[in-house]
Amino acid sequence: MASEKRLEVVTCTAPVNIAVIKYWGKRDEELILPINSSLSVTLHQDQLKTTTTAAINRDFTEDRIWLNGREEDVGQPRLQACLREIRRLARKRRSDGHEDPLPLSLSYKVHVASVNNFPTGAGLASSAAGYACLAYALAQVYGVESDLSEVARRGSGSACRSLYGGFVEWQMGERADGKDSIARQVAPESHWPELRVLVLVVSTERKPTGSTVGMQTSVETSALLRFRAEALVPARMAEMTRCIRERDFQAFGQLTMKDSNQFHATCMDTFPPISYLSDTSRRVIHLVHLFNAHHGQTKVAYTFDAGANAVIFTLDDTVAEFAAAVRHSFPPESNGDKFLKGLPVEPVPLSDELKAALGMDPTPGGIKYIIATQVGPGPQVLDDPGAHLLGPDGLPKAAA
Ligand code: DP6
Repeated sequence: MASEKRLEVVTCTAPVNIAVIKYWGKRDEELILPINSSLSVTLHQDQLKTTTTAAINRDFTEDRIWLNGREEDVGQPRLQACLREIRRLARKRRSDGHEDPLPLSLSYKVHVASVNNFPTGAGLASSAAGYACLAYALAQVYGVESDLSEVARRGSGSACRSLYGGFVEWQMGERADGKDSIARQVAPESHWPELRVLVLVVSTERKPTGSTVGMQTSVETSALLRFRAEALVPARMAEMTRCIRERDFQAFGQLTMKDSNQFHATCMDTFPPISYLSDTSRRVIHLVHLFNAHHGQTKVAYTFDAGANAVIFTLDDTVAEFAAAVRHSFPPESNGDKFLKGLPVEPVPLSDELKAALGMDPTPGGIKYIIATQVGPGPQVLDDPGAHLLGPDGLPKAAA
């Protein structure tokens, strides 16, 4: 059994991000290089996060990984690519003359355990937080201090944007080796304190087409996607950066909705077509536009990834009213008291004018629950040894 002293162990957390300018399509499948740049908002880890423990030890005989308590195949190509990349960066650091506190660590095998604080199966993308957390934790145990975009990206493209807090762009880069395809913070999490995010978890039975396969088919068949990537996204990236810098919610919200709609249009232009939006998603879209029309301005904005869940952006002064509008349109069937999770939201009554303006037939149970959150920081190292998901023997603790 390994003694605690010889076990190098670290536990980190990493956030989920939601793109407001979408990444869809790769120009290199192996290196995971995108056909366009993208921009995202990092969500707060108090509500949504992955926690990962990585341990290296000279007594470990093989690399092993446990996700949400279950051992997974460590041979998956993307996992292998992340491990290869981090070991390459660690070797490079050593050959660059940095002192290595663990001279043999490069040949050590690693054990990894990872859990999410949000329900898996809710259709919330966990791969971005998962691979960002893996990259960050591995960097800690192998003593790598360089940019980790490359490591996280090899796990899942969108994961490189979860390496930073606040507002983050993933620059597509031009080089064939991907060295300039990196994530960069546009503004920190403190930049726009009024911004709020509501994740509307939509009830759905269907398992959607995964993003990896979906975007591959889109690249092969959609001329609209190529046009979007080449002719539209560059100006949209610049405009979105301006909206964020100037905290211009009206323009931010409109561009966020348009970009989500355009991404789903490229999915429909894919052959055979892919549709991620459900009837409930479309009702949410309609609700947002009615709500904004009632107020005569863009007060809320939606965005959808490769699934039916809606993510809503709004400002703190509008959260309560919009949450009430969602509850009115999608009355909870059973869990009325647990409908709103996350940040506290004051219940407010809807005005008769707004009720009349929404005028839709309610869809009971269409939304399972709402997670209220805000913009948050990037990955963190947890100092408390009690947080480790692996015990002194390098195996998952019972609760992990
Ligand atoms: C619709 O990053 O999950 O969420 O690189 O193949 O792992 P892979 O795909 P992934 O795709 C995310 C697509 C998206 C848009 C986005 O997050 O930008």
